[in-house]
Amino acid sequence: MTKKKTEEFNLYVQDILDNKEFNKLNKELHHGITRYEHSLRVAKYSFLVGKLFRMKHTEETTRAALLHDFYLDKNLEGQSSAKRLQTHPEMALENSLKYYELNELQQDIIKSHMFPCNMIIPKHKESWLVSTVDKVVGAYEMLRYKTALYAGIYLIFIFQLIKLPNN
Ligand SMILES: [Fe+2]
Ligand SMILES: [Fe+2]
Repeated sequence: MTKKKTEEFNLYVQDILDNKEFNKLNKELHHGITRYEHSLRVAKYSFLVGKLFRMKHTEETTRAALLHDFYLDKNLEGQSSAKRLQTHPEMALENSLKYYELNELQQDIIKSHMFPCNMIIPKHKESWLVSTVDKVVGAYEMLRYKTALYAGIYLIFIFQLIKLPNN
C-alpha cells in the first residue's frame, strides 16, 4: 500500500485497532494465524479493492470488514465447527455493536459475510465485496498454513531419513 493509502486506512480503523477487546483476537487462532491478522488482511484488501473500483462507502466498508470476525472462541463454546461457521457472524455483530455504531450497510456486511454457509444473502455490493475478499484471503491463509505445515512434516521426514544411516 502507498503511504497515502496507508494513512487513509489507518485513519478509518485506528480506534478499532486500539480497542482492548478487539486486541484479544491476537490470541485467537484462525486459519493458522491469529484472527486479528486475518481481520486486518480482509480489511486492507476490502479497502484496496473498494478504492480500485471507486466504490462509495469506503470508510464504512473497511471498518465493517475489520469487524467481520470480531468474536472469541469462548463466545461460541459448545458449538460444533460447522455450527460456528453459521453463528459467528451474528456473534461478531453483537460484539461490534457493544463498541461501535454501525449503519445498516455495515451490519449487513458482517451478518452476510459467511454466505452461503449461513444463508444470509448479502444485500449490498459492499457486502458481496467483503464476503468475496474474506473467502479469497481465507483460502490463501489456509493454503499457506497447510503448505508450511506439510513442508515442516516433509523436512522432519527427510531429516530423519538423512540421520538414519548414521545411527
Ligand atoms: Fe467469518
Ligand atoms: Fe473471516
